[in-house]
Amino acid sequence: MEKKNLDWANLSFAYMKTDKRFVANFKGGAWDEGVLTDDDRVIITECAGVLQYSQSCFEGLKAYTTEDGHIVCFRPDLNAERMERSCLRLEMPVFPKERFIEAVVQTVYANRAWVPPYGSGATLYIRPYMFASSAVIGVKPADEYQFRILVTPVGPYFKGGVKPITIRVSDFDRAAPHGTGNIKAGLNYAMSLHPIMDAHRQGYAENLYLDPATRTNVEETGGANFIFITKDGKLVTPRSDSILPSITRRSLIHVAQHYLNMTVEERAVPLTEVASFAEVGLCGTAAVISPVGKIVNHGEEICVPSGMDAMGPVLTKLYDTLTGIQMGRIEAPEGWIKNIA
Ligand SMILES: Cc1ncc(COP(=O)(O)O)c(C=O)c1O
Repeated sequence: MEKKNLDWANLSFAYMKTDKRFVANFKGGAWDEGVLTDDDRVIITECAGVLQYSQSCFEGLKAYTTEDGHIVCFRPDLNAERMERSCLRLEMPVFPKERFIEAVVQTVYANRAWVPPYGSGATLYIRPYMFASSAVIGVKPADEYQFRILVTPVGPYFKGGVKPITIRVSDFDRAAPHGTGNIKAGLNYAMSLHPIMDAHRQGYAENLYLDPATRTNVEETGGANFIFITKDGKLVTPRSDSILPSITRRSLIHVAQHYLNMTVEERAVPLTEVASFAEVGLCGTAAVISPVGKIVNHGEEICVPSGMDAMGPVLTKLYDTLTGIQMGRIEAPEGWIKNIA
């Protein structure tokens, strides 16, 4: 199959309409078999549950070309399981895991001309999502839902090399105690838009959110989990019921323990401890790891010892190992890489 004629290395993180998308409908208590379609439009009633009460959730993962020329994606089973938890919390019907994985494979395969070539730094972003499509006016779950998967090619997260970022401790919370912080509900992202725009206006790349109950422990940012490296080389990452369980974080923990022989601590991380770490990173599908060089807490600056020029040595090792596994240069643990073509 001939690739699309795109300037792969200079793509941005923006939506581009590709050839096919997957659509399945839930009606009368069951999912239909779903189809791949050319039609990128969604037509729903003006009173749809998603429009009135934001009953929606989504996932994000990537397909890419490995060193030996295969198209693969990374741990789609974990996205299926996380979406299942999102659906249960939002009283939405679960799209079964095996069908989720099969639909991801079919959608990427149908759009394989859009999967960026190996070495370009670009990837095919995969967005599975579900929303309430039938009318509700009283506050209750809808009866009908649509599950869709769209794909769009996206450029490397850091163009022109990885650069440490400066973030701030936010006065806003991203989640409520016992709320929806641990699922991927669209509503969590709607309420993060004002804090992130405000952070950007003040010159910060991201918000560090504190735990909403005590505002003393580090939680995450609007779109990534934290990983910290101690001066004696341990990986520390916050444990909390109100952060999104990042698939990248869980994979990095495995890599740290089983590939790099590191000690990992998953526990509460007080903000007061952050100044003691040697390296600070954000992890997520988008960038895998983004180094943090500085954290500003109401005028007080925490300058991370690894500095503002480059990713620190331990995060670099973690990054190189995980991306090596993803790209097929390093042997992957059983079941991590789903071959598509
Ligand atoms: C709030 C939040 N935390 C963390 C992550 C990172 O998760 P993952 O590694 O599964 O992409 C994301 C992105 O999906 C996110 O939106």
